[in-house]
Amino acid sequence: MESLKLIKPTKDFENQVLEIAQEFFDDGTVLNWTSWLKRYLNDYEWWLENIENNEKKETVETWHVIAKQFILVRESDDRLLWFINTRLELNDWLLMHGWHIWYSIRPSERKKHYATAQLFGVLDLYKDLWTEKILLTCNKTNIWSAKTIQNCGWILENEIIDPSDWELIQRYWIYVEDGIKKWKKFFENSGINTKIF
Ligand SMILES: CC(C)(COP(=O)(O)OP(=O)(O)OC[C@H]1O[C@@H](n2cnc3c(N)ncnc32)[C@H](O)[C@@H]1OP(=O)(O)O)[C@@H](O)C(=O)NCCC(=O)NCCS
Repeated sequence: MESLKLIKPTKDFENQVLEIAQEFFDDGTVLNWTSWLKRYLNDYEWWLENIENNEKKETVETWHVIAKQFILVRESDDRLLWFINTRLELNDWLLMHGWHIWYSIRPSERKKHYATAQLFGVLDLYKDLWTEKILLTCNKTNIWSAKTIQNCGWILENEIIDPSDWELIQRYWIYVEDGIKKWKKFFENSGINTKIF
């Protein structure tokens, strides 16, 4: 069995987070939706503070909803595999043009079913919040993310134009209860277990 942990980023992971940022730059891909890591690369403490602020209604920026940022860590060697950002609620605009979840795996650890395991792992968070169903969006051209999302049992509702960049995006939903049933099957087949701490 392989165990993965979803935890809140801490000071201990500073070196690994910066290493990952470099991995993305070398790979030429975008480091986005990480609670502004790109902006605060030179100030890790500030990034941690931003994550903390985003979790509470009193401190989140007025036009944002509350969100939790997790990093995914492999238990056997404490290697950081990367992150998942989870919005705990949606407003009217996010319901049409946004999402609950954004996730990413570091380039050197892809195609090992870690994204799949991570997407399943956060279902426990929404179950505890009594959220019935959750929303994820994906650029239509991002075929590997779409595959991951579909593998986890998410259902395509529609495709819309993203007003910020005119890209075609796909909107997927999953009922948390259905996702958890799929998760059990995934665990039986892969032996990968994900737990929120
Ligand atoms: C999309 C992403 C998260 C997938 O991460 P991953 O850990 O490699 O995904 P998984 O290993 O769980 O793969 C899920 C499925 O997609 C397939 N897959 C994923 N990437 C693939 C690739 N580049 N080539 C071939 N197959 C791929 C896997 O084989 C697997 O299918 P299978 O179960 O039928 O074998 C990762 O490529 C990434 O971080 N991309 C950049 C950020 C991003 O696009 N985030 C999503 C925003 S919507």
